[in-house]
Amino acid sequence: MKKFLMCAAMVAMLSPVQISGKAPKLNANNIDDVIKAMTIEEKADLIVGSRMYYKDETAPQHIKDSWKIVPGAAGRINPVPRVGIPAVVLSDGPAGCGIMPIDGQDSLFCTHFPIESLLSSTWDVDLVRSVGEVIGNEAKEYGTDVLLAPAINIHRHPLCGRCFEYFSEDPVLAGKMAVAYVNGVQSNDIGTSVKHFAANNQETNRMNNNAIVSPRALREIYLKAFEIVVRESQPWTIMSSYNRINDVYTSENPELLNTILRDEWGYKGTVMTDWWGGSDGAAQMIAGNDMLEPGTKEQAQHIIDGVKNGTLDENIVDRNVKRILELIVKTPTFKGYKYSNNPDMEAHAAVTRQSATEGMVLLKNDDNTLPLKNSDKKVALFGNVSYDFFSGGTGSGDINRPYVVSLLDGLKNQNVIVDDNLKAIYSAYSKPQEQGEQVRISEMPMDTAIIKYAAQNNDMAIVTIGRISGEYIDRVASDFFLSDTEYQLMKDVTRIFHEAGKKVAVVLNVGGVIETKSWKDMPDAILLSWQAGQEGGNSVADILVGNANPSGKLPNTWPVTLSDHKSSLNFPIDQKIDRRWSVKTGLKHDVKNVDYTVYDEGIYVGYRWFDTEDIDVSFPFGYGLSYTTFEYGKPTVKRDGENVVVEVNVKNTGKVAGKESVQLYVEAPKGKLDKPVHELKAFAKTGLLQPGESQTLTMTVNPADLASYDEEEVAWVTDGGAYKFVVAASSRDPRGEVIVNIDPLVRKTNDVLKRKTVAKK
Ligand code: BGC
Repeated sequence: MKKFLMCAAMVAMLSPVQISGKAPKLNANNIDDVIKAMTIEEKADLIVGSRMYYKDETAPQHIKDSWKIVPGAAGRINPVPRVGIPAVVLSDGPAGCGIMPIDGQDSLFCTHFPIESLLSSTWDVDLVRSVGEVIGNEAKEYGTDVLLAPAINIHRHPLCGRCFEYFSEDPVLAGKMAVAYVNGVQSNDIGTSVKHFAANNQETNRMNNNAIVSPRALREIYLKAFEIVVRESQPWTIMSSYNRINDVYTSENPELLNTILRDEWGYKGTVMTDWWGGSDGAAQMIAGNDMLEPGTKEQAQHIIDGVKNGTLDENIVDRNVKRILELIVKTPTFKGYKYSNNPDMEAHAAVTRQSATEGMVLLKNDDNTLPLKNSDKKVALFGNVSYDFFSGGTGSGDINRPYVVSLLDGLKNQNVIVDDNLKAIYSAYSKPQEQGEQVRISEMPMDTAIIKYAAQNNDMAIVTIGRISGEYIDRVASDFFLSDTEYQLMKDVTRIFHEAGKKVAVVLNVGGVIETKSWKDMPDAILLSWQAGQEGGNSVADILVGNANPSGKLPNTWPVTLSDHKSSLNFPIDQKIDRRWSVKTGLKHDVKNVDYTVYDEGIYVGYRWFDTEDIDVSFPFGYGLSYTTFEYGKPTVKRDGENVVVEVNVKNTGKVAGKESVQLYVEAPKGKLDKPVHELKAFAKTGLLQPGESQTLTMTVNPADLASYDEEEVAWVTDGGAYKFVVAASSRDPRGEVIVNIDPLVRKTNDVLKRKTVAKK
């Protein structure tokens, strides 16, 4: 009887067309018929993610069943079995497949790969593509249809809590890395979701913050990487961000999601919200935000009510549903792929270990301190993080990894003898952290008598400095600077070891930029290992003992101090966090840098600011040393159609094999708009060059890539004139230049994303 009543109720919801005949079952060729057969309630179910029913005992059985598919995944598209739509699984990224352990349910370990800031430090698109292929394979074998990665927001300020999971301060580097990552993952026939579109540059009040940004800075800096990835790799999905841009939630902004993304850039895929982002489901639908994740009942009701009372055109709903169905028919789940839950974890561990070495940046190496000599095989390890490495950051970018190799174990695996006395002292201070709980504990004050004893009994010292940050909260200024204890440790260890005639190397196990200027003269060598995934200690040890030659270069500027960034004037530095601000409140506060953030620096982000103003930096953008040396030949230029093709020969002039990445900066002639002194336009990396070996690298730039955005003209404008193309080893290390004459070029755009209300300062 109950069953009969339910069926009767379902039938009552269907229109005569929908109930006449048998409902079609979805296939790649009948999407329009399926949409015609769907009720508005079914469409709302599809649009709004599976969480709208979370813990709702009244949820229909097929939805309850879908909760059991890949428990721990971040989200799911609801199934609609009546028309053959299966539940589709969305898992987090980017440092691997983020399937989190869930109480009482099966959980699976996933390989923790290096953070994005490390991947971009490789400057190697082929390598990042191959890492993406492996991440995609693992995600697919764990039942994922769409990986919620890569994250490509710009490092506007070093204290943004999520910089670790973003690529760079430069949109060309971030964009090209994103293309490689997306192509790699999607080569497995699963999707990606490039996030967070756009200007999600702080975590403080991220669900409400209003980023007040000029159309020029948006176009040139904050949208550019998205434009590159959309034009060059067609990600299956894009994730809109939490914040507002110029007063409008990104997920509710048709100028962003339709005019720019689809009309101007030609995007064909699906857009989803960030988790619970935005405020009005109907407005999001109209804006072209197809999927509302992870979904609430209110959002579904907005859509149903909107269609019923005529405020939401059902054609818009159908347009969005169509895009979701076009996504679904491509998924492994729809195609009946039987995932194994058993990816090749050993092979993937080897990939993370090797790829991590490629993105580590050697910042200093006086007198060839590194790699360790055979005579240096007894090492004193200082800093509690040496014994308990950070593999990545926290929040949705974290991975449920099986283990993390510490620096201690990595060195032991290379037969380096590590001081056991120090190990005992550090383990008494900090028990290795529980699986999955990576927190920074304050550095242990170290007695100078212990350091002296260690200096007598070891060949050298390594001091590890660690930082960890993540989602929901920005870093504080004290996280950027060394603590007093860390500084003292650095001072004492370097003094005492140097007095004993022994060297000291520093390893930076960090996710973002820290202050280095005040102490970098003390140690003999500094290796930025980043957070290098679960094999971190092995990867660092491979570099320290010389199995691998570092070839990473910085994807961001390391300033002398925090206030040197122009964006420091408008960033929530040490802003007291009111818990209400970390969730979507709808409350109207009016606090600068919390409720609204004025991007006063415009396009002058990162090296565009430091190099234009000639501000001293600790380590410039693009900088990194090697165990060998490279000589650059004179660059040459030729035209290939309208493209400018720059070639440069790079020769290994040192004694060991190594790779060099070369950057191409362009200086524009004086024109109407003010411009940075130079901008990165292309880059390339050599293969492994043996001593004496050389390779010619080719970098291609289209005149359209040289344009700045002219708000008055509402156009991308490439001024005509003589441009200087500079090949460089870093933004401050030019190695050769060629002058190229470029014809003027103007490309009109739509006049959108302007602030409609009075500017707030
Ligand atoms: C994050 C996204 C993530 C999503 C799902 C959000 O809080 O901002 O990056 O993909 O959660 O876990």
